[in-house]
Amino acid sequence: MKMKKQNLEKILIKILMNHKLNKDHSKISSQALINAELVGAYGHGLSRLKMYCNRIQKKLINPKPKIRTKKISNSISLIDADNSIGFVAADVGIKKAIQNAKKTGIGMVGIKNSGHYGLSGYYAEQAVKKNLITMIYTNAPPAIAPHGSVKSLFGTNPICFGCPSGSKIPFILDTSISMINRGKIRVAAKNNQKIPEGVALDKYGKPTTNAKLALEGVQLPIAGFRGSGLAWMVDILSGVLTGSNHAGRVKDPFDDFTGPQNIGHLIITFKSNLFTNNFKNRIKDNIKTIKKLPKVKGIKKILYPGENKFYRYKKNFKKNIIIKDNIKRDIQELLND
Ligand SMILES: NC(=O)c1ccc[n+]([C@@H]2O[C@H](COP(=O)([O-])OP(=O)(O)OC[C@H]3O[C@@H](n4cnc5c(N)ncnc54)[C@H](O)[C@@H]3O)[C@@H](O)[C@H]2O)c1
Repeated sequence: MKMKKQNLEKILIKILMNHKLNKDHSKISSQALINAELVGAYGHGLSRLKMYCNRIQKKLINPKPKIRTKKISNSISLIDADNSIGFVAADVGIKKAIQNAKKTGIGMVGIKNSGHYGLSGYYAEQAVKKNLITMIYTNAPPAIAPHGSVKSLFGTNPICFGCPSGSKIPFILDTSISMINRGKIRVAAKNNQKIPEGVALDKYGKPTTNAKLALEGVQLPIAGFRGSGLAWMVDILSGVLTGSNHAGRVKDPFDDFTGPQNIGHLIITFKSNLFTNNFKNRIKDNIKTIKKLPKVKGIKKILYPGENKFYRYKKNFKKNIIIKDNIKRDIQELLND
């Protein structure tokens, strides 16, 4: 089934309002979900709608949060999201970080008692549009084994850096630290397909290309101990620093209903002209120099991070959104809840 974005947004807002979110929060959440579909990040889009509603019904996401912002200095704030849906916590957080940076040059916002917020890049874009550089971190439920361990503990903990590029396409590096998306392993297991080498271990710590054994075992981080170190850094910045869950205690939103997730996020934003007053020309020169390099056979264009997603969004924006049968069933069920 295909649906116009505006119609889908109305339906999502209705579902979330039926689940007791206010109109504003429902709109913020619906727009984030639709954006994930438009950039092709389906694992963070409509496929999660039922899970969010489920967690609201089980009182693990608070539909009426009293979000408190504590001013630590003119630049620094701590937000207690009161177990709100993650989209709303991140929306409040990025707006505060932008406001602080506009005032003082740099804004730093820690967020605790939050939940899964989808794509870091979605929030980074908002800061970049205001001509700010931004770094955003969030932790996530266990999926990755720390280097040397056979037990999952780190989440896929994305690392996000955004900056103005001097063109209308922002530079947004937004990458998880796992070799492969867990969704892809699930699909391979369902279809009895192999997964690539070097992305997972079985439960005994032996490398495997068997998707089912990989699901029982652990996923591997990018670049071995280096990726493991980055995941650890994100856990410290998002979890330890902000007062949120960390060290493998973030709950899996799909199958752990023993309590709220208490995910943490850290957002840092700063003006691009802090040290020179010609960042725009310098970044243009930087990107131009790199794009002009000789290319590997088969590569027509060197892209900077964020370009591929921008083009995908632009292409999908003109079309109606495709809704798979299982999602259509979820939507129909949720409308009747
Ligand atoms: N909230 C969470 O718990 C959570 C956890 C993991 C991931 N995520 C989100 O999932 C999304 C997807 O993550 P991912 O790791 O699968 O992203 P990805 O592998 O698709 O892309 C990673 C980065 O590489 C860039 N890139 C891709 N192809 C490129 C090319 N040819 N040349 C130059 N740059 C290129 C992309 O623009 C992006 O910045 C991210 O938005 C992330 O924030 C969220």
